[in-house]
Amino acid sequence: MGKDVIVACDFSGAQAVYGFLDKFTGRKPFVKIGMELFYAEGPDIVRRIKERGHRIFLDLKLHDIPNTVKKAMAVLSALDVDIVNLHAAGTTAMMEAALEGLTRPDGTRPLLIAVTQLTSTDQQSMERDLLIREPIDQVVLHYAETAKKAGLDGVVCSPLEAGAVHERCGAAFLTVTPGVRFADGDKGDQRRVMTPAEARKIGSDYIVVGRPITAAADPVAAYERCLADFVD
Ligand code: C5P
Repeated sequence: MGKDVIVACDFSGAQAVYGFLDKFTGRKPFVKIGMELFYAEGPDIVRRIKERGHRIFLDLKLHDIPNTVKKAMAVLSALDVDIVNLHAAGTTAMMEAALEGLTRPDGTRPLLIAVTQLTSTDQQSMERDLLIREPIDQVVLHYAETAKKAGLDGVVCSPLEAGAVHERCGAAFLTVTPGVRFADGDKGDQRRVMTPAEARKIGSDYIVVGRPITAAADPVAAYERCLADFVD
């Protein structure tokens, strides 16, 4: 797996996502399927998109007791997805159990990455609601390090954190970064953003891009622009 652009397919149903993917006649983008589409359509949507030749990041952010996560991960692994994720807050025992569940009899498995501290959380809500009093950037790095020790392949983080995560956990530890916008584009509800070129410079391994591509007048051109700025 090298550097790539992952398109966040945040659509409410199968027809909308197929209509979007049908626009891509040349390259087959790496796609992210999140909770909305998965819960609306079930695992079949993953099989269908896989059959169309796309690589898939299944973004379901598991967080439960280790045994439950292990069994759920075995089901996701059988769907032949390429990347899955969980919350690092589930602890080392949960992450290790997840890896066990994901590993197929032949030893292969999807990449497993951890959500550290959601970017919707800030210092104040972390202290007030979770009683975590350390600085949020240190909390993110601690989660990343714990995930690495548990054997995971990387983390989802802000592109602004990608450099520090690589410094702490090594260049081979993957950083998958949403919060990407074109310099001339609308930020929407994302606050701390980077352009694809800046994310490349800081060392993100994968950028996750939703609305700048899905809501563009020409989604294929927007995707190609992301690829040109981030990969080529
Ligand atoms: O449309 P946009 O480019 O903002 O989409 C970003 C995608 O990445 C969405 O699917 C969003 O849920 C996801 N994401 C995020 N920030 C995080 C974790 C995931 O924007 N911290």
